[in-house]
Amino acid sequence: MKKELEAIQAEVLQALKQINTQDQLESLRIEYFGRKGKLTDVMKGMGKLSKEERPIIGKLANEIRSSLSDAFEAAKTALDSKQQGQQLKAESVDITLPGRKPTLGKAHPVMQILQRIEEIFMQMGFQVVTGPEVETEHYNFDALNTPPDHPARDLHDTFYLTDGHLLRTHNSPVQIRAMENQQPPIRIIVPGKAYRVDYDVSHTPMFHQVEGLLVDRHVTFSELKGVLVSFARQMFGDQTQMRFRPHFFPFTEPSAEVDISCTVCQGKGCRSCGHTGWIEILGAGAVDPEVFRAVNYDPEEVTGFAFGMGVERIANLQFRIPDIRTFYENDLRFLNQF
Ligand code: DAH
Repeated sequence: MKKELEAIQAEVLQALKQINTQDQLESLRIEYFGRKGKLTDVMKGMGKLSKEERPIIGKLANEIRSSLSDAFEAAKTALDSKQQGQQLKAESVDITLPGRKPTLGKAHPVMQILQRIEEIFMQMGFQVVTGPEVETEHYNFDALNTPPDHPARDLHDTFYLTDGHLLRTHNSPVQIRAMENQQPPIRIIVPGKAYRVDYDVSHTPMFHQVEGLLVDRHVTFSELKGVLVSFARQMFGDQTQMRFRPHFFPFTEPSAEVDISCTVCQGKGCRSCGHTGWIEILGAGAVDPEVFRAVNYDPEEVTGFAFGMGVERIANLQFRIPDIRTFYENDLRFLNQF
């Protein structure tokens, strides 16, 4: 029996050296110390020993038992710290690695210009209002003195929707909505999207406009000129010259197209301005009495002026993009330059 006990001790000590995990350690413990374990079995045989042998073997068995139990304890501690070491290594952070720079979003170049335009007009006391992009023919054309048979309708390549709806071809319908909603004085600008069936280097089917409207008693054309000159100088620089060319719009009378001195050659004439020294930036005019009648304003009581500009065009004068369609291709290599 002594031999058996010593063999078991040697076996266990040998087996402990092979142990790699807590699970293996636990199976080994059960294999020897469990209720049906090998050591337990041997101990059960003690009853058959003689009186003389019993205390000697009993003592030996206890010693082996407790020394093995110490060995198990030691193995468990060793496994624990090994595991902890591995975990620490796996979870450690290499603080010498370069950091990941968060990429910050920024305003699209067209939005940057739009914000600047809004700022300038807000300083002059204009309020920013918006309106729907899906419009009716009434607001987009009729109320703006452009009846169905009016030739000016052909100038707008309109996206028609169903039930008399369309995508607004300009922001001017918001003039009508604003005048329906409030009484003069009105001093608003209307930034937002407009749509036309158009696609080439200087046109995209969706583009942005800023419409302006001022209505009050005794508003004059020279005030329109003052507002626009002030805008142009703040936008393009103090030296900017401006000229009004007679034009036609159904909703204004008289109407003008407004040019500024070329931002590239300062008016001397170059390729950008077709050697004229001038660049067209907007349309404007005195509000037509017919438009006032459409919103039940009395044209004998109030006068006003309106203007409308394309934001991509202004952005292009600032940034000089050969093809404005690139604004909407969402190529980050392009967009990151602004
Ligand atoms: N709605 C015109 C367009 O899209 C721009 C415009 C011209 C607006 C003259 C106006 C204006 O308010 O008075 O081409």
